[in-house]
Amino acid sequence: MLKDVSLRLEPGEVLGLLGRTGSGKSTIARLLFRLYDPSEGEIVLSGVHVRRVRLAELHAAVGMVTQQVQLFQGTVRDNLTLFTPNISDDHILHVLGEVGLADWFAALPDGLDGHLSSGNAGLSAGEAQLLAFARVFLHSPQLVVLDEASSRLDPATEHLVEQAVDRLLEGRTAIIIAHRLATVQRADRILILDDGHVIEHGRREELAEIPSHACITCCERARRWPPGRCQVERRTC
Ligand SMILES: Nc1ncnc2c1ncn2[C@@H]1O[C@H](COP(=O)(O)OP(=O)(O)OP(=O)(O)O)[C@@H](O)[C@H]1O
Ligand SMILES: [Mg+2]
Repeated sequence: MLKDVSLRLEPGEVLGLLGRTGSGKSTIARLLFRLYDPSEGEIVLSGVHVRRVRLAELHAAVGMVTQQVQLFQGTVRDNLTLFTPNISDDHILHVLGEVGLADWFAALPDGLDGHLSSGNAGLSAGEAQLLAFARVFLHSPQLVVLDEASSRLDPATEHLVEQAVDRLLEGRTAIIIAHRLATVQRADRILILDDGHVIEHGRREELAEIPSHACITCCERARRWPPGRCQVERRTC
């Protein structure tokens, strides 16, 4: 489903990955996380082929937040630390505060020992997503992948998460997947996919210098995109 996609991310660089539904954005994230292996080509992380990295190490090095947050039957603590030892309760509480979950946590009768059920029962979509952010903070991975991660949050919560993301991205390499250019203002580079192909790739400022750049990249350059279906700007161009 991805064709001739080649990209290199320098340490500390932030890539904004855009494209309409089905263009292959999440596929890139899943390949990095080894939810799939590529049938052709390779993925190299810090000079090592991901197939040669133990899954536990890979999952410690790559932090991913998607719209589908996987929580399991267990304590709040275990859901956050994923059983990683040496993460202190103080640190967990600090991180919960940073992502804006202090009030949610204060209302839990059993605190970190309280139980969460699988399937995110008892949590709003926004709360589940904030917990996923907290998880990534706690594991401090070198590479962070945010796949449409804030699109389910209300504006106030989204603002809190935006601030947390700014701190999370400090000194880290990141891929931010989004439908809208406005969501990837933090990106150093932008890559736009269409139908598994790269149709635009460049520094964000360079792309931004083109008038109506989103329309040019999505509708004019790739003329086969029917007007009204532009997923980047969500408007008829
Ligand atoms: N497990 C799978 N097996 C086969 N095809 C898949 C699988 N997952 C996704 N696809 C297909 O791969 C293509 C790219 O999907 P992908 O999830 O990467 O899109 P996307 O750009 O993330 O879209 P969206 O913006 O809606 O999240 C789609 O055509 C999709 O139907
Ligand atoms: Mg996707």
